[in-house]
Amino acid sequence: MHLTSKLLESARLRLKGRDIGFRWEGRREFYHERDSPGNARAGTGAFRLKPIDSPSKRHYNYPMHCTKKITEDLTWVGANDRRLAMFEGVYSVPYGVSYNSYLLTDDKTVLFDTVDKAVQERFFENLTQALGNRTLDYLIVQHMEPDHSAAVQELATRYPKMQIVCNEKTRTMLNQFFNFDADSRVMLVKEGDTLNTGKHTLNFIMAPMVHWPEVMLTYDSTDKILFSADAFGSFGALNGALFADEVDFAKDYMDEARRYYTNIVGKYGTQVQTLLKKASGIEIEMLCPLHGFVWRRNIQDFVAKYALWSSYTPEEHGVMIAYASIYGNTENAAEILACQLRDKGIKTVMFDVSVTPASEIIAAAFRWSHLVFASATYNAGIFVTMESLISDLVAHNIQNRTVALIENGSWAPMSGGLMRGKFEKCKDINILENTLRIKSSMKAEQLADISAMADAVAATLPSTQANNAGPSGVPDEQQIDLNTMTKLSYGLFVLTAREGDKDNGCIIDTVIQVGDSPVRITAGVRKINLTNDMIHRTGEFNLSILTEGAPFRVFEHFGLQSGKNLDKFADAGYENRAANGIRYLPEHTNGVISAKVIHSFDCGSHTLFVADVVQACSISEERSVTYRYYSEHIKPQPTVTKDSKPGFMCRICGYIHESDTLPADIICPLCNHGAADFVAI
Ligand code: FEO
Repeated sequence: MHLTSKLLESARLRLKGRDIGFRWEGRREFYHERDSPGNARAGTGAFRLKPIDSPSKRHYNYPMHCTKKITEDLTWVGANDRRLAMFEGVYSVPYGVSYNSYLLTDDKTVLFDTVDKAVQERFFENLTQALGNRTLDYLIVQHMEPDHSAAVQELATRYPKMQIVCNEKTRTMLNQFFNFDADSRVMLVKEGDTLNTGKHTLNFIMAPMVHWPEVMLTYDSTDKILFSADAFGSFGALNGALFADEVDFAKDYMDEARRYYTNIVGKYGTQVQTLLKKASGIEIEMLCPLHGFVWRRNIQDFVAKYALWSSYTPEEHGVMIAYASIYGNTENAAEILACQLRDKGIKTVMFDVSVTPASEIIAAAFRWSHLVFASATYNAGIFVTMESLISDLVAHNIQNRTVALIENGSWAPMSGGLMRGKFEKCKDINILENTLRIKSSMKAEQLADISAMADAVAATLPSTQANNAGPSGVPDEQQIDLNTMTKLSYGLFVLTAREGDKDNGCIIDTVIQVGDSPVRITAGVRKINLTNDMIHRTGEFNLSILTEGAPFRVFEHFGLQSGKNLDKFADAGYENRAANGIRYLPEHTNGVISAKVIHSFDCGSHTLFVADVVQACSISEERSVTYRYYSEHIKPQPTVTKDSKPGFMCRICGYIHESDTLPADIICPLCNHGAADFVAI
């Protein structure tokens, strides 16, 4: 017990029986909530106790604050920390971290958790401002880890009538962590209990081991808000935003969310699954976690990630290679393997475990389906950084993966067997039989061993089966009649993007609306197109929906020449741009859509962009052109006479390749489309 607590404790005893609280005003950090500037000045260095829980007597000069309104009744009163070097003493947080606390102001006032001690000053400023001249009736402690509970004792001192709503396990921890009479303040709740605060009804949901055993969640069934404790949190300070939809979460924050989940809660997949099952039974319009952004849109997307992570289901097929190399020879083997895998069309990521923080590699291990570990032997064991990483992965319950191993040792290679022994303890890990052994450095004759390992990895990856069908992944025409594909119904669109001062556009035919809340579309774009690259880099595009009246020259202009060689808008004669600054076509168009990319998927020849519509406007009621209409009525028909030689026609532009066979890697010289768009004539 420290001096300040002793002084407060003794003051409490002397005033026993009076229903007031008090605080010591002798130190600057206790002036967060002061009666008047005069008192604050007079208090410097003096020991004076002031009652603080009698609002009618207070005349506040409210402190500075930084709060955010979430709903009419709910305010974020948390704080960000960008100075923390190591979260929990282990995890680097280069983008900072937020500690979220929420104040509900109903007939009763309710605070959901507190913050880490590093940001208490900001927190108390925020809370004081958000409360106004009201007192705090309830503190709900959902999680006792000190990054959320550090201010509980100070709160109890400031608000002596405040009740602490928690479960039995939390009560035990309150007494372990703090030195105040927590028992007399506790209102115990259990699964299914409710607390009515006036307009709002709060329902308590136990979530043991989502991260600690005492964790519970609170569901406000009035506003359908789930206060989710550590669940659905993420690393990263909020930087002025509060809602996940205010930022490009998929692009800028998903990696940090994955790193947060896998490292903090990853071990407890079963418990998270139990929680997801409970959550699926309630209607959730907002998620309020203790770290990171509040979710009010696209909640299902984030929940879907949790479903994958907690069931140890890989997000992507591909290979993560982690290597520990002392003089670069083990690294060399890993590099050669990565090249061979890439040559097979397999996605790869690589980490030097001596350089990359383990938390990033653990997050990647949860993302990818196949894991390769390459380690030098060191002190008759696994190299130190690799040993630490694998122990960490095993502790985080990694499972349901295919693992391949590479060992190196100049006189007694041991690391392979030892790594194997560690992964054998994990659930559902398929460890490939042959460990690749290097003695000091790779030799030319060992390339065959690496190829064998690459083959073994590829054989367990479903996507590579398609890649084996032909040199460029084009399936056998006997199996797939490409004419069948032309029977699918498509529209045609001019897709435009802008990067810096560069405008460009191309013709695409695969745009589909896939959701209406939010309004979401997918667009398939040929990877060879400049517009594809620009969208990858900028994350934005416009679609001009073409009409049946569009002349062939529009398709020719945007579809049969490349923006890499010319400025397609140089002689446009118009300058129309949507609110995002990107051009659109003002004629031969019946509607324009502006969209922001949230995901992209590599589909071989094309990228599939998933994007949220941010603006849409109708220009005319003219009918949209379909691909079939274009083929039959707009596109000039190629002339095939009895003298024409056998060949294949590009169904996009009509170019004819005269030959008995179609090269699998053909690219149409007019429109850059590949073999899949050629039909036999
Ligand atoms: Fe952010 Fe488990 O605490």
